Amino acid sequence: MSRRYLIAGNWKMNGSLPANAELLGELALQQERYPGIDMLVCPPSVYLESAGRQLGGNMQLGAQNLSDQTKAGAFTGEVLGAMLAELGCRYVIVGHSERRALYGEDDATVARKFAAAQAAGLVPILCVGETLDEREGGGAETVLARQLGAVLGACGIGAFARAVVAYEPVWAIGTGRTATPEQAQAAHAFLRGQLAAQDAKIGDSTRLLYGGSVKADNASSLLSCGDVDGGLIGGASLKAAEFLAICASAQALSTN
Ligand code: 13P
Repeated sequence: MSRRYLIAGNWKMNGSLPANAELLGELALQQERYPGIDMLVCPPSVYLESAGRQLGGNMQLGAQNLSDQTKAGAFTGEVLGAMLAELGCRYVIVGHSERRALYGEDDATVARKFAAAQAAGLVPILCVGETLDEREGGGAETVLARQLGAVLGACGIGAFARAVVAYEPVWAIGTGRTATPEQAQAAHAFLRGQLAAQDAKIGDSTRLLYGGSVKADNASSLLSCGDVDGGLIGGASLKAAEFLAICASAQALSTN
């Protein structure tokens, strides 16, 4: 089947009201040039409402994190999935390696967040990926299987009909060191195989994004891989020209 490319910008903890307005203004002006792809921006949560008002027709809004709780209550500092949905979010990133490494999110927490996202009607973008040590020790696939398996075990394969998976090798995030197209394709094929082993149709239809130092000049070779259905872009999503060039690469490869 042909999966529609999703080009997602993870702004991480960056932005300001004026900078966001400038960036989103440029994206909104250009988005009509990429009708065959889905464009997504994931600003910090405090900017979601204002960003939502500045989107062009082809652009969607996503959050970077959510609470693992499914009901409002006494959880100081947390943001409920339903609140994100109320602001117009369609997607939410869960299990980003920065949250796993810096904020202690383990596989069980990530699985609860994945379920909480879906309970609120949001599409989780589940991030998985190995560290350099794990790759060099030959354990990359074991890590991917464990991270994906934790969510599969908790939520079931059916949940992946409404989810996106992002392969983000930790050693490629923010380092300028991108996975080669061969490395990305191999990891994506492995992840798709894990899903397909449980449900061939869901394995075939689930979008798998690559993330880790994607830039305008390497996007096309990564997006050309058969099992790469888009990108989760960090640094390059903060520059309109870079992000749009990545969107243009996806559009050029798109069959839509
Ligand atoms: P960079 O594109 O800055 O490497 O970040 C990737 C990432 O972590 C996206 O979620």
